[in-house]
Amino acid sequence: MKLVIDEQIKLGIGQTSVVYHGTLNAESIAAKKSTNGSSLCDESRILKIFKHKNVVKHRGLFELAGGDCLIMELALGGTLAEHLGYGKFSPTQKKSLIQQISSGLGHIHDKGIVHRDLKAENLLFKDMMREHIVIADFGSAQSYRDDVYAENDHEDVDDDEYTFKSDVYLLGLVAFQILRDLRHFDRRRLTGAVLHQGYLDNQDVCGSWEMWRMIIQSLDREPEKRPTVMEFFAAFGAPPA
Ligand SMILES: Nc1ncnc2c1ncn2[C@@H]1O[C@H](COP(=O)(O)OP(=O)(O)O)[C@@H](O)[C@H]1O
Ligand SMILES: [Mg+2]
Repeated sequence: MKLVIDEQIKLGIGQTSVVYHGTLNAESIAAKKSTNGSSLCDESRILKIFKHKNVVKHRGLFELAGGDCLIMELALGGTLAEHLGYGKFSPTQKKSLIQQISSGLGHIHDKGIVHRDLKAENLLFKDMMREHIVIADFGSAQSYRDDVYAENDHEDVDDDEYTFKSDVYLLGLVAFQILRDLRHFDRRRLTGAVLHQGYLDNQDVCGSWEMWRMIIQSLDREPEKRPTVMEFFAAFGAPPA
């Protein structure tokens, strides 16, 4: 195994880490290092579980002199956050992105994991074509068990406890952002009435009523009224092969 990290090339900076470009044997990779001294062991252990084309792939965890280093497949197309708000995506592309994200999240939930930080900054395009998107950043992810109270410390989610349905709420927010091509929005203004009006105002942008209704439902204040990620996914159809 030959790992080379190029600290001159920063792919991104998160709240608690920096991600560098590097190579592992002959493959170009992304190398995540913590900036607050926290371990990347839990993140690595969780990331390793997944095998899905819309979840970033794990390549290894290395102990280096400066601390742990989590190696992942390289996503070269930047984050969704960087590309929203410029009218870049056609209605078909928007639908495909939402299909892919919900398909990836469905796999994560199938494995019993809650992501806890689904947002445009943590959704990465595989390459410059920006057709293939992967879910990244499992730094907040946890195994979820019904019988254990899961504290909710997410500032955008009002749920008493953080469950799979809290991830669905975040999926609804990101789907809304994609369909409306918004960099920023005030999520507290997103009531059912506002969303309903939004659909009536601009059906071209919002897609089918069935898709839009799923977004409204996923943003319900009461977690049990939200769809499961698989129900959400079904409304958007199967992702492209
Ligand atoms: N596999 C990857 N390929 C390319 N860039 C990445 C990859 N993983 C993360 N990044 C970039 O690094 C940033 C921070 O990574 P992230 O895992 O979100 O760290 P944090 O937990 O600190 O938020 C991301 O927003 C993205 O810009
Ligand atoms: Mg992040």
